[in-house]
Amino acid sequence: MSSVVVDPSASFLTLYHANKALRFHAIWLRDNAQDAETRDPGNGQRLIALRDIPAETSIAAAHIANEDALVITFAPDNKMTTFDLVWLKNHGYDREPPKVRGWTGPNVSLWTSDLNNDVPSATFDDLRSDPTILQNWLGHVCRYGFAKVTGAPVEAGALFHLVDLFGHVRETNYGRLFDVRTEVNPTNLAYTGAGLQAHTDNPYRDPAPTVQVLYCLESSAAGGENMVVDGFAAARRLQKENEAFFDVLADHPAEFEFAGSSGVCLRARKPMIELGPDGELIAVRFNNRSLAPTTRVPFDKMETFYAAYRRLGDIIDDTAMEVSFRLEPGEAFIVDNTRVLHARKSYSGTGTRWLQGCYADMDSLRSTFAAMTRKSTAETAA
Ligand code: FE2
Repeated sequence: MSSVVVDPSASFLTLYHANKALRFHAIWLRDNAQDAETRDPGNGQRLIALRDIPAETSIAAAHIANEDALVITFAPDNKMTTFDLVWLKNHGYDREPPKVRGWTGPNVSLWTSDLNNDVPSATFDDLRSDPTILQNWLGHVCRYGFAKVTGAPVEAGALFHLVDLFGHVRETNYGRLFDVRTEVNPTNLAYTGAGLQAHTDNPYRDPAPTVQVLYCLESSAAGGENMVVDGFAAARRLQKENEAFFDVLADHPAEFEFAGSSGVCLRARKPMIELGPDGELIAVRFNNRSLAPTTRVPFDKMETFYAAYRRLGDIIDDTAMEVSFRLEPGEAFIVDNTRVLHARKSYSGTGTRWLQGCYADMDSLRSTFAAMTRKSTAETAA
């Protein structure tokens, strides 16, 4: 049985529903009214601005109707509105703020080399033809920050068909796509046969592309396995080992730069470990090749900063953190470039190896996943 009690101050109420007590402020309830005068029933957009709501808004009366709705009358404008109780429960904010810096939400699972036995993967045909498989695969990208694709066409430019499944290509100065293969006189180390330390791509952009796709077209050279490392797991491990190391990388900006081609001078100033204002772990940036001289770390913190940067690199290089796989022609992988670092192990000079890569963004991938989840939940409920 649900009930509601309005505080004597009239500035908030307490809703007792589904074995929970949730407090809601008058101003929050008024601003988030779900009625057609407040929200467009078609596109859900708010039709009023905060200036349309009296600053002194309070709750004049509130009661439960039909066991599933909360009816509120606001003062001083006598506005009446009704909330669905399930909606209120799902949008409650009356909880303890997170105490741990670097927390991640329930939809993120941190991983180490254990995931080698269970690499998220799907065939290209299944992704194109089966919405449930696509939804699960996108869910894995959101949860783990990467996923593989197999059985895709061995055809230059086919990586765009993969991106079409969830979003849009992000064009950069490298073009809509870039080729990764051995080249003479490389201007960028990615185009040689040398192994690369695990890194996130393009931290020198602001905003950096948040998705990278790497798609294999030829792979006859020995070696050259791809590997991925969960940057969030690495950051949390650093924090567990030495909180001051975590803090110095989170609390000071690093500087990144790429000025390797004529007409290009990309620079960004961002921390290696980025936290949201409430301490949520938002992003990890790690790229030894494009770290520029760091000038925003105070003199008395610089040695700690370098010790922390070194230790984070050691953790990232630890094979216990890595998942590795060899990409064969017609196989690809996608990474959340705000979280998962990728690397290529060195390969021999005989034979060929040709990958095509492109960038896209996590917001459209998350949007596609959320829309598919909403649709399938509605169909299950119907
Ligand atoms: Fe890269």
